[in-house]
Amino acid sequence: MPTKIDMAKFAKFCKDMGFIYQSSEIYGGINGFWDYGPLGVELKKNIKDAWWQDMVRNPPPGPDGQEIRMVGLDCSIIMNPKVWVASGHAAGFADPMQTCRQCKKLFRADQVRDILPEAEWVLSLLKVMTVGEGLYPQSPALNLLLRNCSWKNSDLAKWANSKGQKLAPGMALVRNTETTLQTLEDIHRQNADLQLGVVIGILSSGQIAMTACPNCGGDLTEPKQFNLMNETHTGPVQSEENKAYLRPETAQGIFVNYRNVLDSTRLKLPFGIAQTGKAFRNEINPRNFTFRSREFEQMEIEFFCHPDESMKWYEYWRDLRKLWYSTLGVKSDNLVPREQGKEELAHYSIGTTDIEYMFPFSDEPQELEGVAHRGSFDLEAHAKASGMAEKFAYFDEDRWNADAATRTTNSFKEWMKSNPPAEQIGKYQFTPHVIEPSAGADRFTLAVLCEAYSEDEVPDASGKAEKRVVMKFHPRLAPIKAAIFPLVNKDGMPEKAMALYRSLKPHFNVFFDDKGAVGRRYRRQDEAGTPFCITIDGQTLTDDTVTIRDRDTLKQDRVKLSDVRAAIEKALSPQV
Ligand code: GAP
Repeated sequence: MPTKIDMAKFAKFCKDMGFIYQSSEIYGGINGFWDYGPLGVELKKNIKDAWWQDMVRNPPPGPDGQEIRMVGLDCSIIMNPKVWVASGHAAGFADPMQTCRQCKKLFRADQVRDILPEAEWVLSLLKVMTVGEGLYPQSPALNLLLRNCSWKNSDLAKWANSKGQKLAPGMALVRNTETTLQTLEDIHRQNADLQLGVVIGILSSGQIAMTACPNCGGDLTEPKQFNLMNETHTGPVQSEENKAYLRPETAQGIFVNYRNVLDSTRLKLPFGIAQTGKAFRNEINPRNFTFRSREFEQMEIEFFCHPDESMKWYEYWRDLRKLWYSTLGVKSDNLVPREQGKEELAHYSIGTTDIEYMFPFSDEPQELEGVAHRGSFDLEAHAKASGMAEKFAYFDEDRWNADAATRTTNSFKEWMKSNPPAEQIGKYQFTPHVIEPSAGADRFTLAVLCEAYSEDEVPDASGKAEKRVVMKFHPRLAPIKAAIFPLVNKDGMPEKAMALYRSLKPHFNVFFDDKGAVGRRYRRQDEAGTPFCITIDGQTLTDDTVTIRDRDTLKQDRVKLSDVRAAIEKALSPQV
């Protein structure tokens, strides 16, 4: 993996093994919700623990070798609904929306028709087409889109390879010029009078009756009532004023507590606040197993810094976050960091890199995590909406004191009376910029499952090649770290094995298995992804040594009983 696999077969394997079950399956399930079984819960917990350990408790040094200051939070899922008004979520997801299948931009369905004729790529395309007389003078947009038009295929092809590449990279005409022109010709043959809106739809999607994206020329999904936030009510009365939302991201809990954290910790910039926890989105189309769910867990960091240093920190987090996935066993080839184009960026974002993963259900890499430079958007939005601007402004005492010799006063208030230029003030008092590495715990769990799944052949007890499924989890993430087997259930071996199991149990998740042939026991652990199988055999009784079998190489090393714990610990140490 992740070579192509049948996701239905893979989901069945995950269920059979106890990694992931469909939520409330006995009642037919519920779309977009999943449960983690005994192995899955350990795997996901190990992922969240590794993230917390490597990013919050022990992040590597910053870009200039400095220590990173990071603290955690655990905020409530339901917050004052004003949070979602300030953040833009309440307004942003309340209308019928269409999403561009190419650039992923969202559009209010009722506005697309009006903004399309103004799009730069449409204006450019119109220069190589001929449009007939107007019909609807009262609506400029309809007036244009409903007019009959004509064109030359050679002009369209030329446009696609020049202007189109730059202005409308999402258009089918640009991505797939020949096939799209052939489709247009086939439709034109059956209907001589084609309206401009229809032609644009075909050129954008390669099919009939689609709407084009004003941003990139790609095709838009059907309009959907896009209320992404799940509503609920607090208190016994289900009234409008008691309406609340299940948070669609953990980030806002961090922003609204920014001042509390500053005041209670005396942290100074730059510093980060981290949070893991559930988020809920009423996804229109949950799909691809757990990839797009309606309830999921995020692992988010908001890293606050001086605006002058924000690009440095953006690059730091972008590179570190990609590296982190590799240290946990994700092959570099399957990890694709993708810098979003200007046209894709959220309106507040200065830059965003999606760290994408080659999931086996798709031909194209899919987002695992977004690392966004959010500027001062969120803090300023909450400063404005809460009317507490003073709580969100940051006074950089260190910078102020460092420049003491250049001033006649050490009082900022006094100094302000001299009307210093805005950029001078901004050096000392400003709204911090924020870099946000935002990862999905469930999405990474799915990636880890996909990455780990492999099938190979190993010799059975008689030396004959036998097929096996083996989950090649990184030892840090493996649900079970070691399995302990007595080779046979006699001669004191079970007692010795149980003693070893009990000595390891306080330190790792270990498993004791004395059932069946040892080859079968190995196979069960390979499917669970257990990196080490420890066997107590005849020799153990004479010299206190055991064999440790490596899941991937099948190599068996004989080690002293007293060294077993250290051998497992070594494999579990973080590498970031
Ligand atoms: N605070 C920024 C934010 O929430 P996002 O790109 O919407 O950004 C961040 O979400 C991460 O959360 C994604 O990269 C993904 O890993 C995870 N995520 C988002 N929606 C999800 C869904 N419906 N199901 C599973 N994971 C999801």
